[in-house]
Amino acid sequence: MPAQKIIIDTDPGQDDAVAILLALASPDEIEVLGITAVAGNVPLALTQRNARMVCELAGRRDIRVFAGCDRPLGRDLVTAEHVHGKSGLDGPVLPEPDMPLQDQHGVDFIIDTLRAEPEGSVTLCPLGPLTNIAMAIEKAPDIIPRIRKLVLMGGAYFQVGNITPAAEFNIYVDPQAARIVFRAGVPLVVMPLDVTHKALVTAERNNRFRAIGSHVGIAVAQMTEFFERFDKEKYGSEGAPLHDPCVTAYLVRPDLFKGRHVNVEIETQSELTMGMTVADWWGVSGRAPNAMFMGDIDADGFFALLTDRLARL
Ligand code: BDR
Ligand code: CA
Repeated sequence: MPAQKIIIDTDPGQDDAVAILLALASPDEIEVLGITAVAGNVPLALTQRNARMVCELAGRRDIRVFAGCDRPLGRDLVTAEHVHGKSGLDGPVLPEPDMPLQDQHGVDFIIDTLRAEPEGSVTLCPLGPLTNIAMAIEKAPDIIPRIRKLVLMGGAYFQVGNITPAAEFNIYVDPQAARIVFRAGVPLVVMPLDVTHKALVTAERNNRFRAIGSHVGIAVAQMTEFFERFDKEKYGSEGAPLHDPCVTAYLVRPDLFKGRHVNVEIETQSELTMGMTVADWWGVSGRAPNAMFMGDIDADGFFALLTDRLARL
């Protein structure tokens, strides 16, 4: 099978960084056409910088990185320095990137790429708030049928929320954008907290990253050590949840994940439940399914894949 062409839309974020590294380490399965940064975990000036730092860490200065939207469609930006640190990528000490940021706006790169590539050949992989993707869809609806599928990290059903009692961070930050994306009619694969809270970096798994011995292996170990404190304190988890790498792992090994094709709607009205992903897991609404909503992961298989691939960089 030829490698799947993807655009990664991201707000790095330590777990975003690991997701990008996994994609870059898997050239047989994944061809990264470009990376678009969005405001999310930290403001855009940092997410675009962090994306370039991650490419340089992987030795891939040739990857094109674009800055997209610096704020959600209709709300003030909410960030997550309390989880990811001031830079968004706290943990390892990485050099300032010197590979260039592309001049073109990230949204226009998404539109132009989808128009230029064969119809149905490009997969979009959002790892942060859905602002850039929604903007692209609004600005150029002709791209909708050209998208092969969207594989995204966001939402929750059984886990309900992490940033509020009812909402997961990526969806909460830009619920209007999420609503546009979930209603666009594009095939969707969703990695919610129900899956990602099972992808925990235990001490043993982190030792395996460190034991790779390369810059990448050590940096990934340091990243996960930094951001594990938040989930350990909050949930009593065994380690950091690798939310976003579930997206790129799915492209390589879809068999590691199990879910249901269900209807998912986004709450955009109520302040109390703003950004909630109302997933019809039990099929009670009669609404047409619009998303493959994952619920389970083979965590050992996932970490074996990740360690093996990171060792290739
Ligand atoms: C999501 O929010 C961010 O903090 C992570 O990078 C991930 O994309 C998890 O809720
Ligand atoms: Ca993210």
